[in-house]
Amino acid sequence: MSPIASSDILILGVETSCDETSAAVLRNGRELLSHIISSQISTHQKYGGVVPEIASREHLLHFQGVMHQTLSEAGVKFSDLSGIAVTYGPGLVGSLLVGVAGAKAMAYAAGVPLIGINHLEGHIYANFLNTPDLTFPLLALLVSGGHTHLVYFEGHGHYQVLGHTRDDAAGEALDKIARALGLGYPGGPQIQKAALSGNPHAFEFPRAMLEPGSLDFSFSGMKSAVLNTLNSARMKGEELSVPDIAASFQQAVIDVLVRKALLALERTGAKTLVLAGGVAANALLRERLTEELQTRNIRFLYPPSIFCTDNGAMIATAGYYHYLVQDFAPWNLNAVPGLNLA
Ligand code: KG4
Ligand code: ZN
Repeated sequence: MSPIASSDILILGVETSCDETSAAVLRNGRELLSHIISSQISTHQKYGGVVPEIASREHLLHFQGVMHQTLSEAGVKFSDLSGIAVTYGPGLVGSLLVGVAGAKAMAYAAGVPLIGINHLEGHIYANFLNTPDLTFPLLALLVSGGHTHLVYFEGHGHYQVLGHTRDDAAGEALDKIARALGLGYPGGPQIQKAALSGNPHAFEFPRAMLEPGSLDFSFSGMKSAVLNTLNSARMKGEELSVPDIAASFQQAVIDVLVRKALLALERTGAKTLVLAGGVAANALLRERLTEELQTRNIRFLYPPSIFCTDNGAMIATAGYYHYLVQDFAPWNLNAVPGLNLA
């Protein structure tokens, strides 16, 4: 690592929207000097999902330690920073508040600008970390635990939401089916693992495409179809194969995601697709999109898995682009749990 120069732009990114306390120091938008993720997954696992009250307490417990470690591993002091970027929504209000209050205090004390980042934008910007030469226009398929969005980007900060889920997010549906199958939390990786030994054609679950041409998603009917299959088997005393159910449901969810993404690419004429969010870590989704987009000559990118699930590096990356245009947050920045991509 070369020494810090006074011309370097150093952004501290802070993420606490759900169950990860994470921070990163990013130099000039591309070089990660440090990145710490303190995950609460093991704490929430015994409840089968994130317990909001416990999540905010855990953030409070770990926040200072994570910030301290992030700065010391990067070898920078508060006074070296150019700005502090923080997720202010969407997410769990108690969790968001820990990050927002902490980032505000650090930025005020350091005398540097505070940058408010939309968590969903952060997920998409994880793609700029490893590929800073990404060019616009581009289409983003954002698939996380709480959101499923197709977003058309014309430039930094200039985007339009083309479609979103009308009910459950893709990750949420995977999590719920994993729970019904007794696979544990978080469900997406468990479904992926169980599916490896299952037959994806064992069950033909519905693919909800909505009205012809619609770029919106709906996963709740698909989820109910699986739950009905499980319930009626239980009532008849039949044993169903967990790997077969997992593989068939994963296949159904991915079919819908891929078909909608292809439709949006056709409609916008975009020549680049970026995948983002926790479900972007899914190997089959990546594989299917790679195959489909190769034949269509469309550039396809996805972040390494560690930058797909919640992390501070993606927030620092989005923060860097806000910093370049001096898009700073006021000192009364508040947590906005229901924040949208507008
Ligand atoms: O983006 P994220 O970390 O948190 C939100 O902002 O929601 O996404 C978490 C979601 C969970 O639903 C989790 O089950 C899913 O991402 N996920 C996966 C995989 N890894 C995480 N889904 C499918 N396959 C994976 N490998
Ligand atoms: Zn997320």
